[in-house]
Amino acid sequence: MQQKNMKILMVCLGNICRSPLAEGILQEMAIKNQLDWSIDSVGTSSWHAGEKPDSRSIKVAQKYGIDISGQRSRQLQVADFQAFDIIYAMDSSNYNDIRRLAPTPADKAKVRLILNEAFTGQNRAVPDPYWGDDGFENVYQMLEEACQAIVQKALENRL
Ligand code: 4NP
Repeated sequence: MQQKNMKILMVCLGNICRSPLAEGILQEMAIKNQLDWSIDSVGTSSWHAGEKPDSRSIKVAQKYGIDISGQRSRQLQVADFQAFDIIYAMDSSNYNDIRRLAPTPADKAKVRLILNEAFTGQNRAVPDPYWGDDGFENVYQMLEEACQAIVQKALENRL
């Protein structure tokens, strides 16, 4: 995929814990690498629509100098398949839900598991940290590694 003007969508279940972090981390890295990308995030559910990211996600991002507090949750919609080039799912449940909504085979092909960028073919999940209290740092580290791999691949025209 061409690295210029890429439009990338991060997707989790609620769009308050994992995908807002993924959006914030990749946005920061894209800017640092002078990549003119549009990055957004959504949830497969509408449960938290209109809400800010979870305070624990805001806090862990802040620890690494990234402000995600301006984001607001929204639900994935069919129009997103046209608007984005790559759609990253955090886990296999998101992956299946996103693909179920995809209107065409080409749209289905835009969907990837985000950790496969760093751990090719392993189908690892970014675990849902919502119900625990200590998963947020772990999620941050996983997403940082994945986003680093995404940028590296893009710079080498391998994305
Ligand atoms: P996320 O986490 O999908 O990473 O945003 C969750 C947020 C909320 C819920 C589940 C997961 N929930 O059940 O409300």
